[in-house]
Amino acid sequence: MSLRQKAIDTLLANDRGGFTIPTSGLYPHQWNWDSAFVALGIATYDTDRAWAEVTSLLEGQWPDGMVPSIIFRSDDPDYFPGPSRWGVTPGPIPSTGVSQPPVLATVVRHLTPDAPDRRAAVFDALLRWHRWWHDARSVDGVVCTVHPWETGRDNSPDWNIGLAAMESAPDLAPYTRMDNKHVDATYRPTQDQYDKYLTIVQFGERIGWDQRRLTDEGPFLMADPTIHFVLLRANRDLLAMAQSLGKDAETCMEVQGWIDTGLAATDTFWNDDLGAFCARDIRSGALTAGFNNSSALCFYADAGTPDQRARTVANLRRIAGKVAHMLPSWDPDDPAFEPQRYWCGPVWPQMNYMTALGLDEQGEPDLAAQLRDGLIRAIEASGFWECFNPLTGAGCIGANFSWTAAVWLSWNADPRARQAV
Ligand code: GLC
Repeated sequence: MSLRQKAIDTLLANDRGGFTIPTSGLYPHQWNWDSAFVALGIATYDTDRAWAEVTSLLEGQWPDGMVPSIIFRSDDPDYFPGPSRWGVTPGPIPSTGVSQPPVLATVVRHLTPDAPDRRAAVFDALLRWHRWWHDARSVDGVVCTVHPWETGRDNSPDWNIGLAAMESAPDLAPYTRMDNKHVDATYRPTQDQYDKYLTIVQFGERIGWDQRRLTDEGPFLMADPTIHFVLLRANRDLLAMAQSLGKDAETCMEVQGWIDTGLAATDTFWNDDLGAFCARDIRSGALTAGFNNSSALCFYADAGTPDQRARTVANLRRIAGKVAHMLPSWDPDDPAFEPQRYWCGPVWPQMNYMTALGLDEQGEPDLAAQLRDGLIRAIEASGFWECFNPLTGAGCIGANFSWTAAVWLSWNADPRARQAV
C-alpha cells in the first residue's frame, strides 16, 4: 500500500464524524491546532470533509471568543483531565479552559482562495478569537500564556522557570493520571509538572474561567514564541482575508494594529546571548535559554531583524550537525535535551511543517528541505507517529497520529515540497 493511502487511512480511522481525534487511546477528543493541521491534510483528498474539520472546531468557541484547546463531545473515562476536572466552562460544548496556538486563520486562508462563501462564514469567529488573544491574554502589548498546555509544547524545558516560580496547590484535589497508562511514563511529563498543570486548572475553575483574571492573577504567566509567531502570521492572513472579503476599514485597521503590536513585541523573545527567540517569564522578566523548535518560527511570521535571522540560521546549522533528523524540540547541546521525552527533544511534525514553510518563504530553501527530509525519512522508517527521536528517527508516544499523516499529505501535494517526499 502506498504511503499516501496509509496516511489517508490513518485520518479516516481517527475520524469521529465531522471531527478528527489525534489518535485513539491517548487523545480521544478534538484538539484545537491538531484539527487545523488535519484540515490541511484532508483537503488534499476531500475538501468538504476538510471544511467540516474547521467548522466543528469553531462550534466549541466560547462567548468571549476563545477557542478552547480541547472540545469534549463525550466524557471518555480513559482520558484525564476530562470535562469534570475543568468544571463548568462557558462554551456551548464542554471544553478545557485554555486555548492553543491559533493556526486556524492561516489554514482557512489556504483552504479558501476560491471559496469566498466559506471564508466569509468563519471570518467573524476568527476575528473574535484573535481579539480574545489581544484582550484577555495581552500584557503590555505582549500576548502571553497562562498554562504550558496552551502553548501546545506541554512539557518543554521552556516552562521550567514559570513552573518553578509557582507552588502546587496544597489542597489540590486528588487525581489519577491516564497519559502514562497509554505510553511509557519515561516519555511523559514528570509528576511535579503534572501537579502544577492541575494547580493552574484548579485556579481557573475556581474563578469561573474569567480569562482576564486568569492572566492577571493566575499562578503561571509566560510568553511563548509559538503563540507569538503563529498569531502574528495568522493576523496577516486574517487581514488578507478581510481585504479579499471587502471588510470595513475599521476591521482592517484593528487587525493591522495587532500585526504592528506583534512586530513590536518580537524583541521581547530575543535572547541575545544565545542568538535565538526564546520564552520569557513575564513576572520575573527572565528569558529561557534553549534553542527549541519554536525559535525559528520567526521566518514563518516574517519577523525579526536581519541579524536575528542570521543568528537563528547559524543555530539551525549547528543543530543540524548534531542530529540525524531535524528539527529537535530542544537544543541537543543543552543538558535538558532528552531525545525521547516529548517536548524535550523529539521532532514534531507540525513544527517542522511551519518552520520549513517559513524558511522556504524567506530564502532558506536548503534548511527547509533538511527539515522536511528529516521528518519524511523518520515517517518512512517508522510510520505516522506523534513525534520522533531526532537521533534515530524512532517513533515516540502515540502511533497512527493524525497531524503526522496530514503534514505528509500536505507536503506530498505541494510542488515546492514534493521533491523531498
Ligand atoms: C499533546 C501535545 C499538543 C497536542 C496534543 C494532541 O498534548 O503537546 O501539542 O495538541 O497532544 O495531539
